[in-house]
Amino acid sequence: MDLHQKARETLRQNDRGGYTLPTHGLYPYQWNWDSAFAAWGFTTFEPDRGWTELETLLSGQWEDGMVPHILFHRPDPGYYPGPDVWQGRGPIASSGISQPPVAATFMAKMLEMDPTGEPRARAMWPKLKAWHAWFMRWRLDQGAVCVTHPWEAGRDNAPDWDAAMRGIDASDVGEYTRRDTSHVDPAMRPTKYDYDRYIKLVQMGVSVDWNQEKLLELNPFRVADPTMTFTLLRAQRDLKAMGRRFGQEIGEISAWIATLEKGAETLWNPEIGGYDSRDARTGAFNDILSSASALCWYAGIDDARARPEIERMLGAVNYGLASYDPAAEGFEPLRYWRGPTWPIMNYLVGSGMEERGHYDLAERIKSDTARLMEQNGFAEYYNPVDGAPAGGATFTWTAAVWLGWAGNYSQTHKGAA
Ligand code: DGY
Repeated sequence: MDLHQKARETLRQNDRGGYTLPTHGLYPYQWNWDSAFAAWGFTTFEPDRGWTELETLLSGQWEDGMVPHILFHRPDPGYYPGPDVWQGRGPIASSGISQPPVAATFMAKMLEMDPTGEPRARAMWPKLKAWHAWFMRWRLDQGAVCVTHPWEAGRDNAPDWDAAMRGIDASDVGEYTRRDTSHVDPAMRPTKYDYDRYIKLVQMGVSVDWNQEKLLELNPFRVADPTMTFTLLRAQRDLKAMGRRFGQEIGEISAWIATLEKGAETLWNPEIGGYDSRDARTGAFNDILSSASALCWYAGIDDARARPEIERMLGAVNYGLASYDPAAEGFEPLRYWRGPTWPIMNYLVGSGMEERGHYDLAERIKSDTARLMEQNGFAEYYNPVDGAPAGGATFTWTAAVWLGWAGNYSQTHKGAA
């Protein structure tokens, strides 16, 4: 079967009617940023289904504007922590935190691909704006966007969180049974030490009914994050452009963009030659060079300072951009966000580089990403050294990256050969 067809099959197989699972087994619900990738992937061959995906995601929006990172549409005993643990307070059972806001950016892309979807995009625009406003109200530190749980960042076990995680006392977290390690090799997943703290932070949120004001006081975990800052900055630009087209008031969004641009600059760490995460409680940089630094181009910041270290990271492995500096002591090529290369991150980074004219690096990332999928299918992520597939298999967002981006390279490339 040709890979385009396989990618479409993957999306269809993970489709649960109105929403798409990241992958069967490991992630049996609707995840926020996975879903935005799925919407874009569907739009390449079934636009109507693409629009529905985003509508379903936004149907879980809380009254305060937050769009949760997981929507638990139907119970599934194969996942922990489920709806009973999270006790979200939105219209659909959900988690209590958010995730990188890439939905507005994908909606803009979908509108380009399928202009007939404009009425649906118009209806979603105010909801996206309310979500973006929620980030601006509750998550800023000097204009940079913070995460209040490692899962909010999407980069669950990135080394960026290690210092702040040490400040969490999880001794009273109680007994619980992980499910993720029954689906995939534990060596590819976060450790128990990390999991205890993930669950402790959920319990803390529940203890105040996810009241953001109270959590600002209570939660020791508050880390300004380049992934969040750059994805929100990009999403605000796309929201603004669509707002102009729809005749909406966009003055407030312009002000948000200016704030986030300043905030992004506060994450520049000259010591590492990259955009770094910063503990908002202590003010200290984490000195972690990761793929997140390379999202500056995607965010519309053409920063010559960031290029050398990203170029070095690319040269240090054989496939794509490693999630964590391959030269760092804690680099683990198979453990989730501590080393593996992720097609979704390669896409965000590579497409941003394409837009800003860094074609040499973009080409390399794109062709590597295509090779990974040609050789090993649509895995969750891959070992950047030898290209081995890792984590969950038949992954929705990886297939979407093939359909919307990497597969195009592969076709052109083959045509030219
Ligand atoms: C998980 O369960 O590992 C998810 O990444 C949480 O969002």
